[in-house]
Amino acid sequence: MGGTRMKKMSRILFTVCVFTVSAPVVHAGGTEVFQTCVECHGASAEKSAMGKSQVIKGWSSSQIVDALNGYKAGTYGGPLKALMKVQADKLDAASIQDVAQYISGL
Ligand code: HEC
Repeated sequence: MGGTRMKKMSRILFTVCVFTVSAPVVHAGGTEVFQTCVECHGASAEKSAMGKSQVIKGWSSSQIVDALNGYKAGTYGGPLKALMKVQADKLDAASIQDVAQYISGL
């Protein structure tokens, strides 16, 4: 008797955990990655990084994805593109999507 109740309890707990863990993770990805961009681009992407970059606040996520992939491939950028290549090389395709989505929503 007690055993059945325990099983039911743990199933409920399990469900609660899965929801609390999985729901915010999608957003946390972009938020976390963006923390590595803040020092140059500003807390809400409102700065011109090192006085050289365009302000990326207001960019669409596809614009940001294209720029980041371009830095990675060496096909995009201005005088300081080598610096952004270092940043972009750290990101896989999913992280680029996440962070672009996040920035476009700022
Ligand atoms: C060390 C400072 C620094 C960090 C950290 C940094 N950036 Fe940059 N970012 C720059 C600079 C400088 C440029 C302009 C580079 C150039 O000459 O093309 C730039 C350019 C960009 C551009 C294109 C804007 C343009 O001018 O064409 C995007 C998009 C971008 N960064 C996104 C990011 C993201 C996303 C991150 C975090 C993952 C990040 N940056 C981290 C300095 C930085």
